[in-house]
Amino acid sequence: MSASNNSYDPVEVTSLHPDEVARMRDEALAAIAGAASLADLKEVRLAHAGDRSPLALANREIGALQPTARADAGKRVGGARREVSEALKARQAVLEEERDSRVLVEEAVDVTLPWDRAPRGARHPLTTVAERMADIFVGMGFEVAEGPEVEAEWFNFDALNFLPDHPARTMQDTFFVESRTGGESGLVLRTHTSPVQIRALLGRELPVYVVAPGKTFRTDELDATHSPVFHQLEGLVVDEGITLAHLRGAIDAFVEGMFGSGLRTRFRPSYFPFTEPSAEVDMECFVCRGASVGDPDRPCRTCSSEGWIELGGCGVVNPRVLTAAGVDTGRYSGWAFGLGVERTLMFAHGVQDMHDMVEGDVRFTSAFGMEI
Ligand code: PHE
Repeated sequence: MSASNNSYDPVEVTSLHPDEVARMRDEALAAIAGAASLADLKEVRLAHAGDRSPLALANREIGALQPTARADAGKRVGGARREVSEALKARQAVLEEERDSRVLVEEAVDVTLPWDRAPRGARHPLTTVAERMADIFVGMGFEVAEGPEVEAEWFNFDALNFLPDHPARTMQDTFFVESRTGGESGLVLRTHTSPVQIRALLGRELPVYVVAPGKTFRTDELDATHSPVFHQLEGLVVDEGITLAHLRGAIDAFVEGMFGSGLRTRFRPSYFPFTEPSAEVDMECFVCRGASVGDPDRPCRTCSSEGWIELGGCGVVNPRVLTAAGVDTGRYSGWAFGLGVERTLMFAHGVQDMHDMVEGDVRFTSAFGMEI
């Protein structure tokens, strides 16, 4: 055999060429230096020191060389693999140390903190605002009344003069809990606090002056201004000689107590089956006091430049409602209102988005203080 078999010369087997071995080593060392985390390094180890890494594959070629060429090539590849494995070990140590010191900082426990003081919870701003609203009326001599959130259909609708197929029933998209069977009343999640009017009239001696704060439910989607669960403050007065003028006076007193003095209120004609006449009640915007209306240079975010803020519905109690509750309509008359608590919180405290009220994030709640 005169001519040597060139393919067995380590310099001719590409992967064993000194330049190539050096290139594979340098590539591995660069990848190791660039590994920023232990997870990175794991991948680098697999790629550059694993069974299928270029250097491991090169190592396998050595066996195919002529015996005389093996020692040289073996030394070259072995040296490169050792360098890589040492670099891996060193980088591993550095990254582990970094991780350990990070864990020490991140998981530090301040043992000097008082362990026996738990942060004190606070009531939700909707609760405290509803209470403040009710308090204004309590200051005028009203009592606080209550009713259940799962309410008989009869109280929520029938007694309030919503006839069985009255279109007004669809004004309130209702969650039904139990449907009517035979002559029985069904059960609904109350769509308003007005059923408390009937409960108050049936359960109390006349005259009646009550407010009823509470949760109400409608099949609305949650968005910035709607929620399927919301709150109202119901008001009801039934006495002798009661007129709409008393209602306006009471609303004015409420607005003054809640938002400050000097703000006008207005009634806009509306419709509710249980009041006649009925109105929507608005108050003058306490931020711009109407100055933003028609003036594009002075937009008002509070009232959307309308000058007025809607507070709720109201009206003179429909005699049919009084009759359903067994009240002598020849002697007694009354009025009622239903004010939105969420709206009041939005306006009184500049809360822009309903989501903040329902998500239960204590960072929102605690900004209202720890009022208990
Ligand atoms: N219950 C009505 C509503 O939810 C508001 C209202 C209450 C209107 C009392 C008149 C009288 O829209």
